Amino acid sequence: MIIKSADFICSNTQVSKLPLPLKPEYAFIGRSNVGKSSLINMLTQKKGLAKTSQTPGKTQLINHFLVNEDWYIVDLPGYGYARISKSKKEDWDKFIRNYLDKRESLQCVMVLIDSRLEPQKIDLAFCNWLGEKGLPFILIFTKADKQGSLKTDQNVAKFRKALMTTFEEAPQHFVTSSETQAGRDEVLAFIANINQS
Ligand code: GTP
Ligand code: MG
Repeated sequence: MIIKSADFICSNTQVSKLPLPLKPEYAFIGRSNVGKSSLINMLTQKKGLAKTSQTPGKTQLINHFLVNEDWYIVDLPGYGYARISKSKKEDWDKFIRNYLDKRESLQCVMVLIDSRLEPQKIDLAFCNWLGEKGLPFILIFTKADKQGSLKTDQNVAKFRKALMTTFEEAPQHFVTSSETQAGRDEVLAFIANINQS
């Protein structure tokens, strides 16, 4: 897919104020600092479109970006950020889960996983919740430039194996790097395919 335009539309804390659900939408989610905003900028080739930061917890709202005037990318706050209060964590949970569960135009949840790490409980639990809700999702392994491909492959295999304890079939996955642009064509082709169907 060729990206002709990518524009910030709005930031929200309330599901009731989101853009009308009239265009296909893809939500990017994962642990705080996993590289959601960087991946969005890499996919759209617009540096600074989604705000990135070395400090976890940068994205705090539901951010809508319109691509090619045709479909939305949604940047979400990360989960699992240790340095926020319990009540804020509960707010996050309610607000994000409500959005994911209720959004009619959501085509697929893009779950980002740090390719450097062994399977993390919080990521597995989140995937299991998506499965329970029957929400379609794929795995996007991030930061693949940070280690050799053997290590990435091992962590991908371990994560998929861990998911197989609850899922009959492991979801589709992509390996990406926002530094090298690895995986860009594949992720965009995946989205184009759904948009056309
Ligand atoms: P929150 O909004 O806080 O949840 O974080 P996020 O998941 O949006 O992460 P963000 O894109 O802000 O990136 C976090 C840090 O990781 C930044 O310092 C990025 O430069 C770095 N980073 C993200 N993706 C990559 C990547 O593919 N390779 C490398 N080397 N660094 C990356
Ligand atoms: Mg972010």
